[in-house]
Amino acid sequence: MDFTVETATAAVVESFKNTEDPRLRQVLESLTRHLHDFVRDIEPTMQEWEAAIDFLTAVGQKCDDTRQEFVLLSDVLGVSMLVETLNGAEHGTESTVLGPFHMTVSPRRELGDSIDLLSTGRPCVISGRVTSADGTPLPGVELDVWQCSEDGFYDVQQPDVQPPGNGRGLFRTDDEGRFWFRSVVPSHYPIPTDGPVGRLLEATGRHPFRPAHVHFIASADGHQPVTTHVFVAGSPYIESDAVFAVKRGLITDFTESHDTQDADRFGVTAPFTHATFDIVLATAPEATS
Ligand code: BEZ
Ligand code: FE
Repeated sequence: MDFTVETATAAVVESFKNTEDPRLRQVLESLTRHLHDFVRDIEPTMQEWEAAIDFLTAVGQKCDDTRQEFVLLSDVLGVSMLVETLNGAEHGTESTVLGPFHMTVSPRRELGDSIDLLSTGRPCVISGRVTSADGTPLPGVELDVWQCSEDGFYDVQQPDVQPPGNGRGLFRTDDEGRFWFRSVVPSHYPIPTDGPVGRLLEATGRHPFRPAHVHFIASADGHQPVTTHVFVAGSPYIESDAVFAVKRGLITDFTESHDTQDADRFGVTAPFTHATFDIVLATAPEATS
């Protein structure tokens, strides 16, 4: 059969008919259909097609051990959040993007430790409790936490200014599922714009900023791990996150506390900034069947 605009899709779909893995076959057939429909819809010129190939080539060439431009592209197109949301647990804390700065192993820390190794910022305490969906407190939950500085940079972005591990910590909840640690209030910040994704944002009049947040991964045996953030209520860009990652339920007040008992308990002096973030872990699918 001649390859025409009308017959193209059937010809390519047919070419995958011997694919042994049924999921791979389903994915490739769907990819072909959507890609062909997209091309028929926009009818690119040859120059536009070459520009698209050049763009994707530049995205690949920007990647190295510490920079993942494809993930960034997926983030700004909302694909990362779509995949997260499709895979999120129904009965637990909502998940959101992992982001590109979870690239080093967080240092093990004790409850109450500070993740702010510079001690130059406004002191802030983040505390909460991890429970299962039925409200049972979960002891020994591993909490991987990472955040940027008050100036909006992660440690890996400022190796000359911040010691490795600044803004990061690996904690374990206590016997009653509680956790608390000291930090600084993170800032909103721009995602990296010195690559092709930055050029895409500029060409489309989009800003590169993310609202202030602290990243968490919570994992416990028998439960579905959750990758999430606590967002600082009132932060600039909370309504227009460049990577579409804000979920209402994750926005939390970072309030000034004058509670001297709490201050003693947390090892700070009042007044201090305090945020409470409780995490619910859904039962792992294999544990329910
Ligand atoms: C982050 O929150 O660290 C992040 C997420 C997506 C893109 C860039 C940064
Ligand atoms: Fe971040």
